[in-house]
Amino acid sequence: MSAFAEGERQLRIVIVGHVDHGKSTFVGRLLHDTGSLPEGKLEAIQASCRRRGVDFEFAFLMDALQSERDQNITIDTAQIWFRTPKRQYVIIDAPGHKEFIKNMVTGAAQADAAFLLIAANEGVQEQSRRHGTLLSLLGIRQVAVLVNKMDLVGYDRGVFEGIEREYRAFLKGLGVEPMAFLPMSARGGANVAAPASGEPGLGWYRGPTVLEQLDRFEAPAPPTEAALRFPVQDVYRFDARRILAGRVESGSVKVGDELVFWPGGKRSRVASIERWSAPESTSAAAGESVGLTLTEQIFVERGHIATRAETPLIQSHEVHARVFWLGKRPLETGRRYKLKLATQEAEVQVKEVRSTLDSGSLESRGPSSAVQRNEVADLVLATRVPVAFDNHDACAATGRFVLVDGNDMAGGGVVIGHAYAEHASTDLHYNTASVSAPERWALKGHRGAVVWFTGLSGSGKSTIANALERELTLRQVHCYQLDGDNLRFGLNRDLAFGDADRRENIRRAAEVALLFADSATVVVASLISPFREDRQRARALARERGVPFLEVFVDAPLEVCEGRDPKGLYAKARRGEIARFTGIDSPYEPPEEPEVVLRTAQSGVQACVAQVLDALLPEVRLRR
Ligand code: ADX
Repeated sequence: MSAFAEGERQLRIVIVGHVDHGKSTFVGRLLHDTGSLPEGKLEAIQASCRRRGVDFEFAFLMDALQSERDQNITIDTAQIWFRTPKRQYVIIDAPGHKEFIKNMVTGAAQADAAFLLIAANEGVQEQSRRHGTLLSLLGIRQVAVLVNKMDLVGYDRGVFEGIEREYRAFLKGLGVEPMAFLPMSARGGANVAAPASGEPGLGWYRGPTVLEQLDRFEAPAPPTEAALRFPVQDVYRFDARRILAGRVESGSVKVGDELVFWPGGKRSRVASIERWSAPESTSAAAGESVGLTLTEQIFVERGHIATRAETPLIQSHEVHARVFWLGKRPLETGRRYKLKLATQEAEVQVKEVRSTLDSGSLESRGPSSAVQRNEVADLVLATRVPVAFDNHDACAATGRFVLVDGNDMAGGGVVIGHAYAEHASTDLHYNTASVSAPERWALKGHRGAVVWFTGLSGSGKSTIANALERELTLRQVHCYQLDGDNLRFGLNRDLAFGDADRRENIRRAAEVALLFADSATVVVASLISPFREDRQRARALARERGVPFLEVFVDAPLEVCEGRDPKGLYAKARRGEIARFTGIDSPYEPPEEPEVVLRTAQSGVQACVAQVLDALLPEVRLRR
């Protein structure tokens, strides 16, 4: 039964629904109406029903098939095949079953589409809602809702529409947009293969039958037509040549193609494609293991993934993922694990667990600090070095991974997004610039950098930043000032001075600074930035992106700043007219290891600027 025609696109479906809402009857009906039952099987069960004096039920048929499968362990118990004239289908076993959820979450067996059953006579139940949640969590995009047992409600249109309205609204809240709602009866077969028009009670229905709906689901494109993904397994050296060995996971590659290697983005062209036994050939496609040689000897090692420039993957320090946890110990936020994705390995830290779901009870919880065995979690992983990956939707092989806890293969999961933004979207794809950093540097004659002034209000940050900007401009260094006050007029106008808002203020300023620095601009940022941790985060971001970062502590005692009080704010704060004023009733944490310390109570402006230039210029000037 499982053999299918070469090259045919098979569609994998999952059927979920409350046990009593007729799942096995429906599966039996599908097999029967598509002529997919083993010969004589139906007759045998019907005869046995007659002998026992009970009415035949398709569910009995399913029970019989199931027990046969259970006895014969060589048959895959989790899969049932059937076909329509259009193509073959495989039903992969349905939720409630841990194994199924595990396979789905880890990407071992993904469903392309789902049917969700609701019994018309019982309506939307708690279980129906859990199944909806599960589908949304598993990321199944194509969902059709079958309102079963319509015969038990006299094929009443009002009942059907009531269920549709209620459940559609519920799914909408989960971000699931169902393709269709279909009224049907698995037991009598109404609107399964037989059109609704043949069932007098369903005369009002104009939509597709279940089989038509099945054929409307879209099958995934075959991997050979997808974007190229070639994870490098090993690099072999033969005399002067280096051969990159690996398997083409998707797409195809030919001699002369320009490849980009991730993480990093280094480029070279394919010089030859080598096969261990076969004679030389000029191309290779998904599924083949080959060796590639390159025209330019760039540094490539195991873990790198080659793509084409037009279809890069995502490179990031953060991964938004869905994970099935099997670990002996619970998964915990803050703990470190090893991530293995394609041939890459990286140390990751669990930054945040956004929600969890128990794969047995299907009960879900919100944010948490731990994930227990057999739970599915939606979480954010942070890595020290950038990793390259795809959203699992876009490419399965480079969108799934395992997590290792010590020596324990403790979890498997799929990438659902690039969690860089607060609200990560699965539709975010990192766009890689076509102009490289060195090209930008060459254009400007220097590199980008971030000079980060921190200090109390009135310490002299803006004064020195202004003077520094002038000096840099005289030296033909492109620079730009990001001033805390100024940013609060626009980008940060929604932020106040509570700790969380200050942190966000610094985060945004740092991100913007890095964009400028990436364009080879020297950024002069001047913000009070009172919290050490926030400044450290800005520094870490800069380090990750290879941008020089100079922390400049503008150090003047509070009495001096208060004495200057250029904006009259200390006076106001003392009168209680400004709350949480830094230095008065909100703390300032001085830097521990700043690159530069400016004592503005002792040194003049030009002396301070000279100190910064001494530290800065060697970092940004190009060495010729
Ligand atoms: S930070 O703490 O978040 O880094 P930022 O540098 O953006 O502060 O803004 C500080 C400026 O906001 C000060 O120069 C001052 O003009 C103004 N300000 C208004 N209220 C406060 C306050 N409560 N604490 C500090 N600065 C304030």
